[in-house]
Amino acid sequence: MAFDTAIGRKTCKSSESCLVSPPMTETRDISEVLGLLDWYRSMGVDAALDPEPVDWLARGPSAPGQGFAWPDRPASDGARGEYRQPETQPSPLLPAQRPEPARADVRPRPQTPLAPSEAETDARRAARSATSLDALQAALAAFDGCSLKATASNLCFYRGAAQARLMLIGEAPGRDEDIAGKPFVGRAGQLLDRMLAAIGLGEGDVHITNVVYWRPPGNRTPTPQEALACRPFLERQIELVKPEFIVALGGSAAKEVFSVAEGIMRLRGKWREITIGNLKLPAIATLHPAYLLRTPAAKQLAWHDLLQIQTRLKG
Ligand code: URA
Repeated sequence: MAFDTAIGRKTCKSSESCLVSPPMTETRDISEVLGLLDWYRSMGVDAALDPEPVDWLARGPSAPGQGFAWPDRPASDGARGEYRQPETQPSPLLPAQRPEPARADVRPRPQTPLAPSEAETDARRAARSATSLDALQAALAAFDGCSLKATASNLCFYRGAAQARLMLIGEAPGRDEDIAGKPFVGRAGQLLDRMLAAIGLGEGDVHITNVVYWRPPGNRTPTPQEALACRPFLERQIELVKPEFIVALGGSAAKEVFSVAEGIMRLRGKWREITIGNLKLPAIATLHPAYLLRTPAAKQLAWHDLLQIQTRLKG
């Protein structure tokens, strides 16, 4: 979870559960400030996103990026620039929840993250125009429609071969990946490399990426909006790599790859066909190496899945 202000008043970030912290309206002594920080930590807050406090609750029921409105404020608020009437765009995600602007002076927030529908349209346009992985990486680097970019240190595009028969898709970069700017380089990645080596594959034989290209704060699971914003790039990446087989690593990636809601224990170990543009590809899910590090007994299930992958590659 992330708060968008360092210490102070405000509340929650986008689709995460909302919390209201004690207001800091007066001068406080250090023990009160430390107490407040402690409270944030116990609530799961591990990142401050914005130097200025933002009162999401004052913006009514809609989430950031969903066409929320500023509360009443003078038209000439120089600090935030000039206000313009928002261009209303239908949201395919939450049509019923999108509030109509109540007044003529409802104003958009300058630098508002793109609404999911806008982000996806932008992403699709940018991704479609990329004709190589390098161009796709450049398009991703220029893309501001995924809010994870704001808190990440580096874009994590892919690791391994540009062209590979096997493409592996994980959930999201973690801390080590964020530092290195490459997917699966931490402990889970090292285990993944050993798993691949066990079926005779090296880094040069595979293309490894994630559902989202930036680290979620505190290693939380990416939200559906974040995955949706990255999805056009992932699809284009698949089209450019042209793998013969896809492996989803863990439940979150499997849900995204197969567009289903079932849990990983039901999804894993079964080949399914997925459609990406004009491509129809066999895909399989297996357990995430980070889960295997915590649950070594589950390695036998993953081994079973790996053998299936090996059989396909040999076939
Ligand atoms: N876990 C993932 O899902 N992806 C990474 O890149 C690292 C850890």
